Amino acid sequence: MVTSLSGNQDPLQTRRRLLGSVMTAGVAAMLLPGGIGRALAGEAPRTGARLAGGAPSSTALGAAVQRAVHQIVDDPRVLEDPFAVRIVVGSEGAPALQLAADRSSRGLRAYIAMRSRHAEDRLVEAVARGVRQYVLLGAGLDTFACRNPHADRGLRVFEVDHPATQAWKRERLAAAGITAPASLTFVSVDFETQRLADRLRESGFNFSEPAFFSMLGVVIYLTEEAMTETLRFVASCAPGSEVTFSFTVPASRLDAAALARRERSMAAMAALGEPWRTFLEPGEVPGRLRALGFGHVDVLTPERANQRYFQDRIDGLRVPGSSHMATALRV
Ligand SMILES: C[S@@+](CC[C@H](N)C(=O)[O-])C[C@H]1O[C@@H](n2cnc3c(N)ncnc32)[C@H](O)[C@@H]1O
Repeated sequence: MVTSLSGNQDPLQTRRRLLGSVMTAGVAAMLLPGGIGRALAGEAPRTGARLAGGAPSSTALGAAVQRAVHQIVDDPRVLEDPFAVRIVVGSEGAPALQLAADRSSRGLRAYIAMRSRHAEDRLVEAVARGVRQYVLLGAGLDTFACRNPHADRGLRVFEVDHPATQAWKRERLAAAGITAPASLTFVSVDFETQRLADRLRESGFNFSEPAFFSMLGVVIYLTEEAMTETLRFVASCAPGSEVTFSFTVPASRLDAAALARRERSMAAMAALGEPWRTFLEPGEVPGRLRALGFGHVDVLTPERANQRYFQDRIDGLRVPGSSHMATALRV
């Protein structure tokens, strides 16, 4: 466990050992049939077909690897996640691994750590005003439920994800020896084809009480229609409900270098069967969310995120300019 970083061993040695373990997991990924390894070897699954075809999200694994690497190489950490390494080490794969610890993916790593931290900070405020339900939409390998610091105040956690990813996550937890806490309920939903409200109702979600929702790294993979319907549902929940989600700006906002990087990333994601679909213009987000029924909206620009979470670092870790978050409150 990462908590051993603060033990008696030399911290640098411990970090190197952990990084070695994560790297080994990544090499295993390359070798696995039907997985990321095959996609990287050029046998890509049909574009957009990965989840629909029953394979778990490779980008969920990629995000989890970034959080694991963040625990090991970044100091200070923006996100403290003692389960982050455990859930990926020994797993069947780590797609972004070669990139994960190298300089070129530092911005992505910062963004992935920051978006979880920001959601968890907002959740603290929601819990303080009485919210006792947290719904992670597209939870991936997020480990919040295992760390839930609000469990003693009765915070229930609902992890919503595509059935293919969720089944795989449950296997991952078991393989890592992590017991799902009693406060966690798994809810499998395909946002493109199923009604979130129905599945939450069947899972014991209390519609008469407010809830906090997060949707981290998910909007970009949804059709605009599925994103809108999901947010419309949150806006119809009990007053006091809130959603925090990450989004990425359209290509028209990028300079030539960022555009070239975007095109490379889009091609890679499409080859993995998880194409990027939806981008949002930050200036339009408040109006769109208000039109869905939200009362108060806040957009966290990368500049504000860097000021809040990355100031005074000597390592220069920062989120890139295209990474935004929005928070919307149902009043
Ligand atoms: C990039 S991962 C992010 C996972 C997690 N939120 C995190 O930050 O690590 C995208 C997640 O969205 C989920 N997802 C994508 N399309 C989906 C859909 N149509 N229905 C439900 N979940 C979906 C994937 O299964 C995956 O868990």
